Amino acid sequence: MLCPGPEDDLVNDSNDRARGRWHAQFVASPRFVRGSTDNLAAYLRREVAVTQVRQATLHVTALGLIEPWLNGVRVGDEVLAPGWTSYDHRLAVSTYDVTNIVREGDNAIGAVLGEGWAVGRVGWEGRRSVWADRPAAFLQLDVEDANGSWSVGTDSTWRAGCGGVQANSLFEGEVFDARLELPQWCAPGFADAAWQPVDVVEKDLSPLLPRYWEPIRAVEELPARQILTTPAGRTVVDFGQNLSGWVRLQVTGPAGTRITLRHSETLIHGEVDFETNRGAAATDVYVLRGDEAGETWEPRFTFHGFRYVDVAGWPGTVDPADMTAVVVHSDMRRTGWFDTSHDGLNQLHSNVVWSMRDNFVGVPTDCPQRDERAGWTGDINAFASTAAYLYDVRGVLGSWLEDLACEQRATGSVPFVVPNVQVAPSPPTALWGDVAVNLPWVLYQETGDEELLRRQYPSMTAFVDQVEAVLDETGLWSKGFQLGDWLDPDAPPNNAAGGKTDAHLVASAFFCRTTEQMARTAALLGQHADAERYTRLHTRVRDAFRNEWVTPAGRLANESQTAYALVICFEVLEPAHVERAGQRLADLVADADYTIATGFAGTPFVVHALTQTGHADVAYRLVLQEECPSFLYPLSKGATTTWERWDAIQPDGSLNSTGMTSLNHYALGAVADWLHRVVGGLSAAAPGYAALRVAPVPGGGLTRASAVKDTPQGRAAVTWSDSDGIRTVEVTVPDGVPAEIVLPDHPEALVLQVTGGTHTWQYPCVTRPFNSLDLRTPITTLQQMPLWAEVMAVLSRHVPLLATAGPDFDLSPWARSLHELVRRSPYGPGMEAELLGVLERAVAARQ
Ligand code: BGC
Repeated sequence: MLCPGPEDDLVNDSNDRARGRWHAQFVASPRFVRGSTDNLAAYLRREVAVTQVRQATLHVTALGLIEPWLNGVRVGDEVLAPGWTSYDHRLAVSTYDVTNIVREGDNAIGAVLGEGWAVGRVGWEGRRSVWADRPAAFLQLDVEDANGSWSVGTDSTWRAGCGGVQANSLFEGEVFDARLELPQWCAPGFADAAWQPVDVVEKDLSPLLPRYWEPIRAVEELPARQILTTPAGRTVVDFGQNLSGWVRLQVTGPAGTRITLRHSETLIHGEVDFETNRGAAATDVYVLRGDEAGETWEPRFTFHGFRYVDVAGWPGTVDPADMTAVVVHSDMRRTGWFDTSHDGLNQLHSNVVWSMRDNFVGVPTDCPQRDERAGWTGDINAFASTAAYLYDVRGVLGSWLEDLACEQRATGSVPFVVPNVQVAPSPPTALWGDVAVNLPWVLYQETGDEELLRRQYPSMTAFVDQVEAVLDETGLWSKGFQLGDWLDPDAPPNNAAGGKTDAHLVASAFFCRTTEQMARTAALLGQHADAERYTRLHTRVRDAFRNEWVTPAGRLANESQTAYALVICFEVLEPAHVERAGQRLADLVADADYTIATGFAGTPFVVHALTQTGHADVAYRLVLQEECPSFLYPLSKGATTTWERWDAIQPDGSLNSTGMTSLNHYALGAVADWLHRVVGGLSAAAPGYAALRVAPVPGGGLTRASAVKDTPQGRAAVTWSDSDGIRTVEVTVPDGVPAEIVLPDHPEALVLQVTGGTHTWQYPCVTRPFNSLDLRTPITTLQQMPLWAEVMAVLSRHVPLLATAGPDFDLSPWARSLHELVRRSPYGPGMEAELLGVLERAVAARQ
């Protein structure tokens, strides 16, 4: 057995037994030139006679991408099948009931076969043929008819030809010459004498398994928003949304007309820009057959991450009705929604949802547009809770975790990317490798499914044991490669891992959390000896962390927002130190003027840490900041997805030159978890939402927020709204589920226990207007504002030295904020209140 998986007689069987189940063999086109980048797609077919069919079932998979056909009819609605898995270990078979397509007498079974992930270019190292050196198809038709039960599958009797698909690649795009497509190629009676016999390809059949997770489908269509002519004279179609998928075109024109569609995420200074695609050509070509009634085409063996399409060679003028964007991703069920009275937050949330959709094309990836598109482990670890709230990810992420376990067993380590496309083995790395433990734990919290933990248990323990072996004598993860707080905005442009938080601090903090989850998992699964061992390990790592990184008074030796956020959220600190840590975190956030100062490791936690330590107001200011870099800044540049870095497009409109400028990376969208659980206030109080906690924290000047979640127990929903001094809280709890309701700002601080049904509370509530200025606002910022003269006037009344220095005295070298000044100064007790008054009046005047 290669790797653990669901019970099924097709799964994890020896090749011999698998062969007993399967009559088909993998077959390939003899025309395929190994290593060449412009191979034609293979068209495969054979005919078979059926008499009085009772039941017909078609099983399909491929190393490559496959589109199955039967009697001229496209079978099923999957695209980019069989999706992407670690093909050496797990290859999904899709099964279709085709009884209604099979007909009396001769039937033609066929398939079009492209390169896809198995054969084409994948990952950022430019590798090809990672799983197979040419595409190979596997189809088996199981029939019950007058002749009994029998099967026919791909074997040496099949024939291979070609058609319109002249080149296909996930990164480069597809070339289709409609003049070369043979319309009847998959109809019975088609003359395939000129086609060649296929090559039978010897393959291990044991990785074949029935697909139990959602396939990739075309899930939505978006019309063209507008057709632009750029300053350079290019014709560009804007679909208004950055998406993963492709364009369907409708066109009429002379035969041989060649239309080229080049996909782009953005305009830069009005011109269509391709830099964020890096080395992916992302170009589709359609050559017209010249049909007077018009022709419709969309690619089938590629996808792109794009909002804009540069069109060249169009016959006549492009009309918006000629172009439709087809959104393509794993067809998961939406389970979570969020909405507020703040348009910016709603757009931020929409961007997060779209980046999730665009990066769940088969497996959870980093980005859908450039020559990378890989299943980066750290990205999904950062984003896991948000993903699990928004969509039912049990299938796609459950399958991906099985792949991870297989790859980990094969290479001895959790690869940076799953499926693994790297040549070099990956060293154990915090956040990235931690996904082996953190993701099953998140999914367990979300679903209550212990089976998933049981299945992943060997993978989880293998990662923890591997890291334990590299801890130093004190119990710290203090050496070896780390990606740290990846993409901290303060990291040098040429070293995204070189942020201000020590990478080994990040590593040890994550390992604290991971060992704690591991110990809890072991206990839950009845692995008592392991539970004790991992509890001891957790204590050892936590104590070593405190000894190394926390001063006796509770300050961190390497102060940064990420460091404080991690130690607060991962409960690394002694309880007595938490309040101080929260205070320091709030100070650091203010010092950065509420712009983002965290990367992949810290961003998911910084707002939670602030809220947990009583600084929700600071968290709101951080989330509502619009200056660059911030959560809302990309909206000012028209962002419709989450960017890889918050300053991917800079304030002057140019693209950041670091190269890490995907405009569609979900990792930093993890902030949405705070929107769901804190602003909306909806969270699980027991695994699988067997109990609920509803505790919204209003703020930021919002007057309404609502979170809705289809939990395994049924729909749960929270809405709070403020109107005319009255707060209304409405909560829906699934039947039989106990829920604790903490009514926000209730005059009697009411906390209630309720169960199934919809409950409403109303009470008077005075909400403070959102104050975008406070004592923590940097002095350098205040100095630019008209209120500064008033501030200096207050200060000079209280601070004798300033009275003589005059109103133009530069205070910024002496204190970063008025908060710091007040804290350090022994002068007049009224000074703080007077300063606050100045700030509040200034904010009120602006509103
Ligand atoms: C990817 C990231 C990934 C990182 C780690 C990047 O190229 O796009 O999202 O996690 O590399 O090295």
